[in-house]
Amino acid sequence: EHHGHKVKTIQVVEFGRFEMDTWYYSPYPEPYSSQHKLYICEYTLKYFRKKKTLIRHLAKLDLRHPPGDEIYRSPPPPLGQPNYVGGAVTSPPISVFEVDGKKAKVYCQNLCLLSKLFLDHKTLYYDVDPFLFYVMCERDEAGYHMVGYFSKEKQCMEEYNLACILTLPCYQRRGYGKFLIAFAYELSRREGRVGTPERPLSDLGLVSFRSYWTKVLLEHLRSVKGDVSIKEVSDATMIRGQDIVDTLTTLGMIKYWKGTHLIHGDPKVAQDHLSKLPVQVTIDVDPTCLHWQPML
Ligand code: COA
Ligand code: NA
Repeated sequence: EHHGHKVKTIQVVEFGRFEMDTWYYSPYPEPYSSQHKLYICEYTLKYFRKKKTLIRHLAKLDLRHPPGDEIYRSPPPPLGQPNYVGGAVTSPPISVFEVDGKKAKVYCQNLCLLSKLFLDHKTLYYDVDPFLFYVMCERDEAGYHMVGYFSKEKQCMEEYNLACILTLPCYQRRGYGKFLIAFAYELSRREGRVGTPERPLSDLGLVSFRSYWTKVLLEHLRSVKGDVSIKEVSDATMIRGQDIVDTLTTLGMIKYWKGTHLIHGDPKVAQDHLSKLPVQVTIDVDPTCLHWQPML
């Protein structure tokens, strides 16, 4: 695989209890960059050439979570039925940390290096100061295990509510990506401004956003009768107008009338589309578990 003109060097990373094949080139410094395999601390994201150095590092480490504020904490599963609710496996308890690129520079740079291994096109941010990183973890007795994250510019002139998003491959396709997306929109809701991801999106990024937008819009439109404006739907969902138009055009639920787009709300049509969506794994963002206010 190529990134720009750079050939992938690191083929495998060990991360917590997982071993993952890498996807793309990432500019780890020498001599790490020429290793076949790197050992990465899942708490600090520091990287090592030798497992025994990682083990020594872990032995000295008291911190078992990302270096930031725990702003989201889902409740533990009911006693006696860990991760089991009504016969269905649910996700383990989840926490999200807000990590400031300026305060935890090395951690955030390491996070960017790690995520570049799975990102084709995004340029890396060595300059992490202007960003906040929302790091999602699964919690257990051992600590907080990083699952994925998204970054967000602190002072953004555009409507971007997300710059970069990643679910580590060992955790992919379990609904974590859509959780992170929903989380970004929940922050937008608290800020009182609509949001959209920074472009370009990767194929997997686009699939994930499309899936999120489709579900949220249809669930909203299920309770709307008659014509509504894009603005009204945008205000209700925090989804940017253009993303609403694109998504609903695909569903054939939009019309262009006297110079503006209108959505024809028909609960039956929305419900119909919803019931045709493939079964999705979703982990809901519970707003009552989010302790966060926008910076003024
Ligand atoms: N092939 C096809 N569809 C896939 C897929 C794959 N390999 N991986 C995920 N999807 C689909 C899921 O089926 C789901 O669709 P659905 O809601 O219709 O069922 C949707 O994408 C999201 O799945 P989810 O489990 O919530 O996402 P995830 O945890 O796997 O994470 C990304 C999604 C994009 C964050 C993840 O693929 C990733 O980190 N990719 C590498 C980095 C990247 O490209 N980031 C985006 C840059 S803009
Ligand atoms: Na992707």
